[in-house]
Parts: sequence; C-alpha cells; structure tokens
Amino acid sequence: MGYNLLKGKRGIIFGALNDMSIAWKVAEMAHAEGATFTLTNTPVACRMGTLTELSEKCNAEVIPADATSVEDLEAVYARSMEVLGGKIDFVLHSIGMSLNVRKKRVYHDLNYSYLNKTLDISAISFHKLLQVGFKMDAISEWGSVVGLSYVAAQRSFYGYNDMADAKSLLESIARSFGYIYGREKKVRVNTISQSPTMTTAGSGVKGFDGLMDFSERMSPLGNATAEECAGYCLTLFSDFTRKVTMQNLFHDGGFSNVGMSLRAMTQYNKSFDVDDISSLD
Ligand SMILES: NC(=O)c1ccc[n+]([C@@H]2O[C@H](COP(=O)([O-])OP(=O)(O)OC[C@H]3O[C@@H](n4cnc5c(N)ncnc54)[C@H](O)[C@@H]3O)[C@@H](O)[C@H]2O)c1
Repeated sequence: MGYNLLKGKRGIIFGALNDMSIAWKVAEMAHAEGATFTLTNTPVACRMGTLTELSEKCNAEVIPADATSVEDLEAVYARSMEVLGGKIDFVLHSIGMSLNVRKKRVYHDLNYSYLNKTLDISAISFHKLLQVGFKMDAISEWGSVVGLSYVAAQRSFYGYNDMADAKSLLESIARSFGYIYGREKKVRVNTISQSPTMTTAGSGVKGFDGLMDFSERMSPLGNATAEECAGYCLTLFSDFTRKVTMQNLFHDGGFSNVGMSLRAMTQYNKSFDVDDISSLD
C-alpha cells in the first residue's frame, strides 16, 4: 500500500501488546502511511509484551503509562509532543480489560470492585485521555481521537459480561466529549465498533470461538480483521473525515444490521435431526 495518508501527522497509540493487537496493526499501518507517533501501554505490558520489536520497526518511542492515571497521561502527552516536535494529530485508545471476565465472575454475580476497575480501565480512561489532552491543549485543530468498541454496547451478548457496560459508557463519552472538543477546538472524537477479533483481550471472552463463527456467518461481508480495523482507524485519522465526529461507527461486515442470515440459519438447522425443516414451527 502507501498513500501517504498520514504524512506529517503526529500520533499517540495506546494498547499495542503483541502482534495480534489491533493497536499493533494500526501502528504498522500508520508508520507505512507516513505518520510519526509514540506507543504507550502499562509498565507491565511494556515489560512482558513485545513492544520493543514494534518500537524499533516504527521508530517510535515507548512511554509506559497506566491509562487510568491522570498524572501518567499528562506525562504521555508532554513527552510525545517533545519527541514528535509539536501538537498531536491523532490518538488511538485501544484499551480494554475486565477482572470479572478474567476471574470468570458471571454478570449476575459481579465483584463490584472489579466492575469499577473494568469501567475505569476500559471507558473512563477514554474520558481521562480526552480531558488531559483538552486541558493541555495537546491535540491540534482537526485532530482525531478514536476508541474501539463492540456491538454489546447496544445489544446483549452472552459472555461479554461487564465489558458491555464499559463499551456503552465509552460510546457515550465519545458523544459527550466529542461535542465539547468539536465546539471548542475542532477535534473529532469517535468510536469504531469492531467485529470479534482473535487477540489477547478478545480470546478472554467466554465462548469466543463460537461468537466469532456466529458473527462470521451472520455478516454478509464476514468478520472484519484487525488489519481491516487498522485501515478504518487510519481513514478517521486522515483529513478525509474532518466532519465525522461523535459517532459510533460499525466496522463489522454488516453484522449489526442483520437479523438472520442464510448461512447462520443453515448451520442452526443442522442441529435438528430432520430432513424437512419446513415441518418445524
Ligand atoms: N478483540 C476483539 O474481539 C474486539 C472487538 C471489538 C473491540 N475490541 C476492543 O479493541 C481494543 C483493543 O483490544 P485488542 O482486541 O487489540 O486486545 P489486546 O489485548 O491486544 O489490547 C488490549 C490492551 O489494553 C491494554 N491495557 C489494559 N489495561 C490498561 C491500562 N490500565 N492502561 C493502559 N493500557 C491498558 C493492554 O495492555 C492491551 O495492550 C479494546 O478496547 C477491545 O475491547 C476488541
């Protein structure tokens, strides 16, 4: 590829952990499209993950930070502007974590201190990075901030647990802050609602293989991959989408607007041991 779509743009990419991460693909593609950026993740993820490899490949400095810490976020913006030589044009929030999911607490038996963490890490951190960017006036006019969401924000999905609540909050923050940031500084704020994708966070969800297969069959275009999601993120960072803001944009092969598909129905009917499905009511 190579359209120089992000030539001269400066960014901050949150959430690349390994080469399966959506943020990793965004970083690779942003680099190929001419952007310069910093990478950030938790100190533990920076130590345990393979971020050094990505950092070398993209010539991007890694800044360890907990996205729930306002102080850490201030340091991320300050250092990023210093090393990149100016205000930031794009920010990717690609962060999600639920201790209830990790510790297999079901939705009707949540641990509330875990729930608070889920919301803080997966949604409120989006508000924090917007508020810190706003107060520091760190994002340039017509800049773009993107968070990653999932359709469980609108509809219930078995096993997605308290992450559904976090995604609803994330999308709401994009609308509420998007209004203010647009009005005051002409900065766009959107979320992309991505298909299930086989990553470290994704595979933690109960029944993830089945969910991926189901949505693959339900989507006329099939599931969107992490690379395809990166491509969509880049369009939102580019100058071609300057008037898109406060939106939750589905990037899911059409899944979110399908009630029932032929492929899913065919598979469903295989579970009935009958030749003539028309006899079923
Ligand atoms: N994989 C999917 O099926 C899918 C679908 C729709 C949306 N998403 C969303 O995409 C985003 C990226 O997830 P992914 O699938 O690439 O998985 P991933 O596990 O590669 O990325 C999640 C990242 O969040 C980071 N993180 C966790 N706690 C943090 C904290 N306190 N501060 C800073 N970073 C923190 C992790 O270190 C990790 O890098 C998440 O918001 C996720 O919910 C994923």
